[in-house]
Amino acid sequence: MKEFTHLIDLDDFDLDFIERLITLGADIAVNTKRYSSACFGKVLATLFYEPSTRTQMSFQTAMLRLGGTLIGFDNPETSSVAKGENLKDTTKIVSSYADIMVMRNPVEGSAKAAAISSDCPIINAGDGGHLHPTQTLTDLLTIRMEKGHCDNLTIGICGDLKFGRTTHSLCKTLSKYKGNKFIFISAPELMMPDYIKDIIKANGGTYTEKYSLEEAVPELDMLYMTRIQRERFTDANQQLAANFNLTCDIMKLAKPDLIVMHPLPRVDEIELKVDDDPRAKYFIQAKYGVYVRMALILEVLKNDHPVKLLTKGFGSYDCTNPKCVTQREKYLPHSFHRKGDVLVCDFCEAVTLP
Ligand code: NCD
Repeated sequence: MKEFTHLIDLDDFDLDFIERLITLGADIAVNTKRYSSACFGKVLATLFYEPSTRTQMSFQTAMLRLGGTLIGFDNPETSSVAKGENLKDTTKIVSSYADIMVMRNPVEGSAKAAAISSDCPIINAGDGGHLHPTQTLTDLLTIRMEKGHCDNLTIGICGDLKFGRTTHSLCKTLSKYKGNKFIFISAPELMMPDYIKDIIKANGGTYTEKYSLEEAVPELDMLYMTRIQRERFTDANQQLAANFNLTCDIMKLAKPDLIVMHPLPRVDEIELKVDDDPRAKYFIQAKYGVYVRMALILEVLKNDHPVKLLTKGFGSYDCTNPKCVTQREKYLPHSFHRKGDVLVCDFCEAVTLP
């Protein structure tokens, strides 16, 4: 296993490194042209096993604006994956062609699984309902540019918090900044998973849960809206769960300096007329995603923050998460770390009882 500065989970880095990325992203946003040949001669591969507009195109734009070039696929059916090739072999080959590889895959823990057999750094562009760290970098740069700081904020996170990977990554990282208070606004069936709440508590953050946007909005500095992730539902109750809709009337209850963010795509959770409110920041947020991904590519290529991938403990146990990559890619080692009385899978973070 070779060591690289992979971005699988932002938890692998300290806040100084994350802040360095955001600061570099902010500089690139203002001085984009200065970086136009920083990646001359470098190749970025995008392997998208799941639909994407912004994440894929913003990575491609980022590499092109840095003077690099691109290879990849956005439909695994047109690659050898359709012939049954496993993740290990695809990764081994593509990482011998490219200097950096960006992967989105519906299977939880797949970015880490790819990193194990990769000959170049891997960037996780979303692994099922698990994590989406580069969306978090996009969100942090947006907060920095639009509010000036990422700490001491009251943050509303609304929508499908159970299956929305962007909210998981974002809360994990924002809870590392001092003084942030979270208000989760969701139907009970789609509330934030306990493991994320535990991380917030462990980082010293606080959270409350509410079931009404009207009730939560007046105290917020930032509202993060998300769509319902129907494609990830596992039972019928989730189909019946209430959706939330941010309207101009609800915006009247909010602070004048609230910012409204959304990773996009929007379905029907934000009324179109809200787009004209200057507090709506979701389109500029998508643009900041290019600058922060340019910063990320530059930092990852420096390769001075090697990431430890597995703890390799408790290999005789099986992960109980049916969506875990270890269930699909049978050659993978079983690797867990202990947290209190339970074992946590090193790939997907699901909890298994020993
Ligand atoms: C998100 C994703 O793919 O998780 N989109 C994105 O990357 N901007 C959000 C979503 O699909 O709802």
